[in-house]
Amino acid sequence: MILDLFKLKFKCHGLGFVKAEIPNSEFRLHVWDKKFKHGGRESEETHCHRWAMISKILQGRIVNQLWHVVERSEGLYRFWVPGNSDQGGEQMEPLDRYADCWTEDRAYSKGESYVMQRGLFHRSFADDGTVTLVHRSNFDGMSMSLIPRDNESPLHGAAHKISDEEIFRIVSNHVPTMLVQI
Ligand SMILES: [Fe+2]
Repeated sequence: MILDLFKLKFKCHGLGFVKAEIPNSEFRLHVWDKKFKHGGRESEETHCHRWAMISKILQGRIVNQLWHVVERSEGLYRFWVPGNSDQGGEQMEPLDRYADCWTEDRAYSKGESYVMQRGLFHRSFADDGTVTLVHRSNFDGMSMSLIPRDNESPLHGAAHKISDEEIFRIVSNHVPTMLVQI
């Protein structure tokens, strides 16, 4: 299937990529660039999803950092959950739950795929210009973030201000033919 990027509507999530639903399919296209991150952030926050996900790398490279989590009251990380909506984003609210964690990096290149099961914690690091094809399962359970214990205000889900024209300029720079084969 050849995909015409001119027909897609990209939205910025602030986590370092823009996403577009592919018409007449259950897939989304993600295009990664550091300009799509919230200002000044080195990486996205550690989080889990309410859905299982499979991601195939169409171009570029992505490191999926898996977080192994052991819940303990003295833990160095705190669980946060989405609260009330606020100006198009999500306010996060802290839980009285803590954990210690260790991480495991797995790198994926063009043609490779990885699966994230629902409820497992991770964060991703992608080279600028990485393009991924993503399929999500049905929603269930709760999304959460893990934030260092003393941090006051996680940014996960907060609205990110970047114009549609700028998004399209960056995307078309990374995918100059405007066509992607999936
Ligand atoms: Fe994620």
